[in-house]
Amino acid sequence: MFLIQLAFWLGWGSLGLALLKYLELPAYLPAETVELGTPGQFSVGSVTFFALYKAWLVRSPEGFYALQAVCPHLGCQPRWQAQGQAFSCPCHGSRFDSEGSLLQGPALRSLARLHIFLSPGGQIGLNLRQTYQAEAGEWQAPGAFLNWPERTS
Ligand code: FES
Repeated sequence: MFLIQLAFWLGWGSLGLALLKYLELPAYLPAETVELGTPGQFSVGSVTFFALYKAWLVRSPEGFYALQAVCPHLGCQPRWQAQGQAFSCPCHGSRFDSEGSLLQGPALRSLARLHIFLSPGGQIGLNLRQTYQAEAGEWQAPGAFLNWPERTS
């Protein structure tokens, strides 16, 4: 009897694993990369929020970077405060400057940057699954910033 029960549960377990593998097919995952628009659409100094992607696109005089809209403390969504030129988290008060650097805790690290690139079609693209941490020295990595000096817009 025990062997029959064991075979029964192993069969259901195998079926469950196959189903999980099936659900992880890339066609069923949300888009990994997204396009936000052409560089000329964003004026220098602008901070544009893309709610669908939980990301801000920041246009500096030198180029673009994207910040993940997830507080590194407990995951709330910080808000851009244009007057103070900072992001502040409504949950426990963490603050970050316009580059995403930590100004005030309780968060212990800066906002993560998202991988940014120029697509073959000339659009600013993001990879939503690749992040860069300031504290790990990753903001100097090529994908953490899109060099696009103001005069090229
Ligand atoms: S979740 Fe942002 S400060 Fe706590």
